[in-house]
Amino acid sequence: MELILGIETSCDETAAAVVRNGHEVLSNVVHSQISLHQRFRGVVPEIASRSHTERILPIVSQALSDAKLTPSDLTAIAVTHRPGMVGCLLVGMAAAKALAWRFNRPLVGVDHVQAHVHTGLLTDPTMPLPALCLVASGGHTALYKLNEPGKSERLGTTRDDAAGEALDKGASLLGLTYPGGPAIEDEGKDGDRKAFKLPRTMLDKDSLDFSFSGMKTALLYTVQPPGKPKPEEPPSGQQLKDLAASYQEAIVDVLIQKLRRAAERHEMRSLCIGGGVAKNARLRERIAQDPVLNQLHLVLPPLDLCADNGAMIAGLGSILFRQGKTSPIDIDAVATAQSGGKIKMRQRKKRPVNK
Ligand code: KG4
Ligand code: ZN
Repeated sequence: MELILGIETSCDETAAAVVRNGHEVLSNVVHSQISLHQRFRGVVPEIASRSHTERILPIVSQALSDAKLTPSDLTAIAVTHRPGMVGCLLVGMAAAKALAWRFNRPLVGVDHVQAHVHTGLLTDPTMPLPALCLVASGGHTALYKLNEPGKSERLGTTRDDAAGEALDKGASLLGLTYPGGPAIEDEGKDGDRKAFKLPRTMLDKDSLDFSFSGMKTALLYTVQPPGKPKPEEPPSGQQLKDLAASYQEAIVDVLIQKLRRAAERHEMRSLCIGGGVAKNARLRERIAQDPVLNQLHLVLPPLDLCADNGAMIAGLGSILFRQGKTSPIDIDAVATAQSGGKIKMRQRKKRPVNK
């Protein structure tokens, strides 16, 4: 029997979980810091890492006790080591390293975005591959082709805002609370999705990349037409409901169109989604109704596996552990993602030596 502890602290969730044999989630404990960041309408790195420091030990203890285990029962310890806010990553990594060292267990460093990509396999280990995976959250929006466990290729990514970020900023424009995705979803429930004509940015006809910043500006200009005085009050009543419904529909439309493009262009057998935006009921409904997408084996994970959590870290940790991909105890925290996150160092021009 294989028991993996997964620890996640890359953003504003302090999370730990135990997964048995790669897919049985024995415990999944998440402490959300939303109330701490709400008044800033975004995650404040310093506040986030301080809160992780206070919460990490109780959360790990709870994940173990919920699973009725002690640390010595564990096979390995998986932890997010990239991408994320380095001050936040370091908290989870310090806890994971201490456990790995004290109990002499392997440490497995996990890429957070890849963990979202592999959530389909955690939910349904029989998911046929290759799978088309959409990762849509507050920090990332990208399409991947998952060829085999541990091996994916990125097909497209956002050139500016992430889908969740566009929802968060859009909600702020509409005077709604943070995080914006659930606030817009809630407000738009009784709204008319066609009431406001908002653009869908599709980029070149072949592109699988995303761009949401223009859509956010279009919402701004709808609420505050340029050249006119700024309205004293944010929209309210039916107008607010219609704006929320129309804006959400525009963002969901882009995600669906790009998924269709990817499914038509690449040989895929399944489709899975991950990240906080994957909790959106309209997105799920549109995927299930789409005549191209619903031909694929659909894996729409339970909501608690979509948003940031420790189970997805343990799930990918299990795959990497089985492949012998464990990490040294001095593994570093890295701010950027594994794929596409390569930093090009600017070459310094050699100056002629003055003699
Ligand atoms: O994956 P996540 O919990 O954290 C990271 O950003 O990594 O995603 C958070 C994002 C936020 O932008 C939030 O507005 C969005 O997911 N979100 C949603 C919903 N719930 C959370 N977006 C649309 N519909 C939702 N129900
Ligand atoms: Zn995430």
